[in-house]
Amino acid sequence: MSNKAKDIVSKLTLDEKAALCMGKDFWHLVSIERLGLSEIMVADGPHGLRKQAEDADHVGLNESVKATCFPTACASASSWDVNLVFELGKALAEECKQEDVSVVLGPGANIKRSPLCGRNFEYFSEDPYHTGEMAVAFVNGVQSQNIGTSLKHYVMNNQEKLRMTIDSVVDERAQREIYMAGFEKCVKEAQPWTVMCSYNKVDGEYLSENKRLLTDVLRDEWGFEGLVVTDWGAINKRDEGVKAGLDLEMPASGPKSTKAIISAIEDDTLSLDELDKVVERVVDLILKSQNTREEGYKYDSKTHHRLAKKIAEESAVLLKNDGILPLKKGSDIAIIGEFAKTPRYQGAGSSLINPAKIDTACSIMDAKGYPYEYAKGYSVKTDKVDSVLIDQAVKIAKVHEYVIIYAGLTDSYESEGFDRTTLDIPHNQIALIDEVIKVNKNVIIVLANGSPITMPWIDNTKAVLEGYLHGQAGAGAIVDILFGDVCPSGKLAETFPHKLEDNPSYKFFPGYERTVEYRESIYVGYRYYDKAQKDVLFPFGYGLSYTEFKYDDLEIDKHDDFNYTVSFTVENIGNRDGAEIVQLYVRNNESPIFKALKELKSFRKVFIKKGEKKKLSLNLDKRSFAYYNININDWHVDAGTYGVLIASSSQDIRLEDKIDIKVKDNVVIPDYRETLKCYYSIKNDILDIGEKDFEQLLGRDLPKRERVEGELYNIHSTLHDLKGTLVGNILNKIVFKKLKSLVPEDKNAEDDTMYTMMYNIAKEMPLKSFGMMTGNATPPYVAEAIAALANRKLFKGIGLLLKK
Ligand code: BGC
Repeated sequence: MSNKAKDIVSKLTLDEKAALCMGKDFWHLVSIERLGLSEIMVADGPHGLRKQAEDADHVGLNESVKATCFPTACASASSWDVNLVFELGKALAEECKQEDVSVVLGPGANIKRSPLCGRNFEYFSEDPYHTGEMAVAFVNGVQSQNIGTSLKHYVMNNQEKLRMTIDSVVDERAQREIYMAGFEKCVKEAQPWTVMCSYNKVDGEYLSENKRLLTDVLRDEWGFEGLVVTDWGAINKRDEGVKAGLDLEMPASGPKSTKAIISAIEDDTLSLDELDKVVERVVDLILKSQNTREEGYKYDSKTHHRLAKKIAEESAVLLKNDGILPLKKGSDIAIIGEFAKTPRYQGAGSSLINPAKIDTACSIMDAKGYPYEYAKGYSVKTDKVDSVLIDQAVKIAKVHEYVIIYAGLTDSYESEGFDRTTLDIPHNQIALIDEVIKVNKNVIIVLANGSPITMPWIDNTKAVLEGYLHGQAGAGAIVDILFGDVCPSGKLAETFPHKLEDNPSYKFFPGYERTVEYRESIYVGYRYYDKAQKDVLFPFGYGLSYTEFKYDDLEIDKHDDFNYTVSFTVENIGNRDGAEIVQLYVRNNESPIFKALKELKSFRKVFIKKGEKKKLSLNLDKRSFAYYNININDWHVDAGTYGVLIASSSQDIRLEDKIDIKVKDNVVIPDYRETLKCYYSIKNDILDIGEKDFEQLLGRDLPKRERVEGELYNIHSTLHDLKGTLVGNILNKIVFKKLKSLVPEDKNAEDDTMYTMMYNIAKEMPLKSFGMMTGNATPPYVAEAIAALANRKLFKGIGLLLKK
C-alpha cells in the first residue's frame, strides 16, 4: 500500500471512510476533493468499452458511447495467441483513456463447466491453464496503459440460473484445480488492479463476505495487492464484507451500507484497523487512476477496427474441410442466412458494446466485388420455420455451384441472465440447412455462436467454419478465410460434445432452488471426455489449417527435480504459410488419488512460412505435475512417471516422452480407491455420481437444496420464492409491468431477448437487490417489509413501511 494512501486515510473522518467503501452512483467512485481524491469511473468490458453516458444499468439496456466491439472472449480464446490478446487489452485501454474510464470490468475467468451457461461467450475456456494465460495477457495489455482491470467473477459462478443466490457446492480440490486456478495464475502473474467477487455463495457464504476466498486465499496465499469490488449488487451485510476483505461496494445502494459500517465501528464489532485496510485500498485505486489521466487523448478507431479483424482472423476455427476451401475468387456462390446481413457478433447483457461500425458478410463481398446471390433463409427474430424463405433459399442453392450458409445462435438463445436449455441451433435454421443440403453438394456452413452447438447436418456439408461471436470486424475475417487470403489458425478452447447428455455436468446443472452440486468434481471438459473415452464432435484444442505441420526432434532437458525444458521442431510441410498452435499436455502418473488422464500445461502459437522449420521450447515446473492435496492444503507432486505429450489437439498427439519424478516425501495422498470407485472408473455413459459419494468427497453433509415448506421469507428470498403469497403475486405484477415499460420499444419489437433477460434477472433477484433494479428508488426497508408481509406479519410489514 502506498504511503500516500495511508497518509490520506489517516486524515479521513469516519463518515468519509464509510462513504468511500461504496460507489457514488452506478459507475463512479466517491471523491474527497479536500484531500485530492477526484472522481474516477469504471465501466464494462470485457471485449470493448461500455461506457454509459446517461442512464445507467448493468444489463445493456441503455445505450453506451460508441466503441470498438472486439471479438468476445470465446473467440479471442480460440486464437490461443497471448500477444494478440495483449494487443486487444491495450487497445481497449486506449479507448478507456479517451473516455476517462479508469478501470475496465473484465476479463471474465470463469470456467465453462457446462455448454449451457448463458454467459460462456464472455469466458475463455473449459481449461484453467488456458483461461489463466488468456486472462494474464488481457490484464497485462490493459494495465500496460495504466488502466485497471477487474478480474471477474470470482468465483464458482458458472451459470446464470439463480446466479444471485445459488450456493455452489464444489469439493475443495475441484475448486482449486479447476475453478480457481485461472484466477490464481492471473493474480500471481498480472496483479489486476481489482478483482470482482461474484453474486453467488460458496460453502454457504456469499462471496462478498467469504473471508476464506477473499482474504485467506486471494490475498494471503496468492498475494493479491489490489481491491476487491462486488459484482453489481452482490453486497450482503456490508460490515461483514469489510471484515472478510471486501473493499468496494458497487453500485451505490443508499445509506444503509454506510450506516452499517459506522454502527459496527461504534459497537466495536469492526475495528478501525479493519476498516482502514479496506479504505486504503480504495484510496490507492483512486490515486493510481488519477495519476495516469491524459487530457485530450484520442485513439484511432480505424486501427482498432483492423485489430478487431486480425483477432477474428486468428480466432475462427475451421472445423471441417473436405477440400472445398479456400474458394477461388469469382466462384459461383449463393449466400444464405440472415446472419450474412444482420450478423451476430457479440452477446447480450452487461458486455453489450455499441459498435463504432459493423461489417457484414454481404457488405464485405460487395466491397471486394465478389459475385454472389443472397437469400435470407430464416429470420433472426424467431425460430419458427418459414417455408417461403426456405423455398427462396433452395431455389438459389440449386443454381449456384457453392452455397455458404451463415447460421448459429440468435440473441434469444444465449445471453447474460439466463442459461441455454439446448445445444441445438434454432429449428428454422436446421430446417433450412436440411433442405439446402438436399439440392447442393457444396455447402459450407459459417457459424456465429458463443458456445458449442450440435450439428446433425454436418456429414452432408463440405466445410464448417466456426466464427464464434467475432466482433464488429469479424465478417471480413471470415470472408478472407473462405477465399484463402487468410490461412485459418484458431483452435477450440472447449469441447463440442455430440449431445448435451454427454457433458459431465448434465445431471447436475443448473441444480436446485438453493444449491448446485458440482458432483463431477475435476472432470470438466476434456478431462472428462478423455477419461470416459467418450467420442466428441470436436475435441478441445482442435482446428484445421490450409497447410500442414510436421513435429519432430523432441528433447527434454532436466534442470532439477521439477523443472524441465521441452524442445521440439515444427515444420510447415504444406504449400502455404500458416500458424500452428502447439499444445503440451502432461499425462498423469498412476496415483492413489483420481486424476484426469492428461492436462494442458503449456502452449504456443507460432507462425511458420511454408517449407520452414522452427525449434520451439516450452517449460514445465512443479505446478505442471501437481494436484491439490486437501490433507496439506497445498499443491503436491507425487512421485511417478509422467508423460510429456506434444500435440496439435487434445486428441492428436504428435510426440511423446516420459519424465520420472522420484522425489518421495511423507505427504499422505488422499486415497479413495476403495471408497469412491465412481471417481476412478468413469464409464462411457451419462455421468452420475451418487449423493452419498459426493458427500464423502466433499467431506461434509450436503446443504439443503430447496426451500422448506413454512420456512420464513427474508430479504434474500426471490420473487420466485414468494410465488403463492399474496404480496408475491402483487409484486410480480408490478415488477413485470415495470419491466415491459423499461425495455425500449424498438428492442422489444426486434425480439424478446432483452425482456427475457430482464424477466429472468428480476424473478431470481433477491428482495434486497430490488433497489439496484429500480435505480435505488426502492429503499432497503421495503425488502424487509415485503418479507414480513409474505410471512403474514402484517403489523411488522406495514409498520416498517410507515415508520420510514
Ligand atoms: C455483471 C458484471 C458487470 C456488472 C456491471 C453485472 O450484472 O455480472 O459482469 O460487470 O453487472 O455491469
